[in-house]
Amino acid sequence: MLTNIDLNKMNRLMEENREAKQIISQLLENHHTTVSMIAHEIRNPLTLVSSSLQIIEAQHPEVKEFYNWNQTMEDVHFMCSLLNELSTFNNSSTLHYSVFSIEKLIKNVAVSFAISLDSENSAIRFSSKIASGMGDYTGDKIKLERVLLNLLKNAREAVNSDGIISLSANRNNDNIVIQCTDNGCGISAEIINKIFDPFVTYKENGTGLGLSSSKRIVEAHGGSISAESSDDKGTVFTVTLPI
Ligand SMILES: Nc1ncnc2c1ncn2[C@@H]1O[C@H](COP(=O)(O)OP(=O)(O)O)[C@@H](O)[C@H]1O
Ligand SMILES: [Mg+2]
Repeated sequence: MLTNIDLNKMNRLMEENREAKQIISQLLENHHTTVSMIAHEIRNPLTLVSSSLQIIEAQHPEVKEFYNWNQTMEDVHFMCSLLNELSTFNNSSTLHYSVFSIEKLIKNVAVSFAISLDSENSAIRFSSKIASGMGDYTGDKIKLERVLLNLLKNAREAVNSDGIISLSANRNNDNIVIQCTDNGCGISAEIINKIFDPFVTYKENGTGLGLSSSKRIVEAHGGSISAESSDDKGTVFTVTLPI
């Protein structure tokens, strides 16, 4: 899988050399198709395995007592979410544009995140401050929602059970600036430059695809994403989207 540094080098080569541009574009297209096909071919049998395991568990609840049953269920669940995230990552630069209210989109994300915390009776305190009158935005609504949900999910995974998370959004001249702040474990200086690379995860059950997909999606909108953090002091992710 290409890292962001590789992608930058590749973009430079493509700008410098016409022939390289043609060949690299073709290779990228093939690579994209191959990843899609592999994900698709694995997802079909995996969905069948997952359904069969659920049926077995419903009809024979005693299997839960078997050694490794729960681990197997968790592994299958992990593989399903890995495939979903891989597809999201693979498609993150292909945008389906529409015109929508960015204020509404961010508010909806904030509400669904608050509901998910409520439904788990979580003691995490979440607040949002979303400016009104940010106007219409042209972009890929579903993918931008995914970016914000990725940031909130990471924030939730970084904080303790009584942590604090906030989401803010403002219009600054010709940019929409969205910030997701948490008072969680923070990100050390050694790894902060790697977290946007694909498959980089420091979590036991992480995929390492959330931030790399988010970066690709934001950059496909002409924007940028960055993280500021220090150990134990929490983290702020800033997404800037040009209008
Ligand atoms: N809010 C945050 N606080 C602390 N660390 C974070 C935060 N967000 C991301 N990270 C770090 O960045 C890594 C990559 O994140 P991500 O791409 O979403 O993959 P994953 O969540 O599957 O590990 C995480 O494993 C974690 O170490
Ligand atoms: Mg994540």
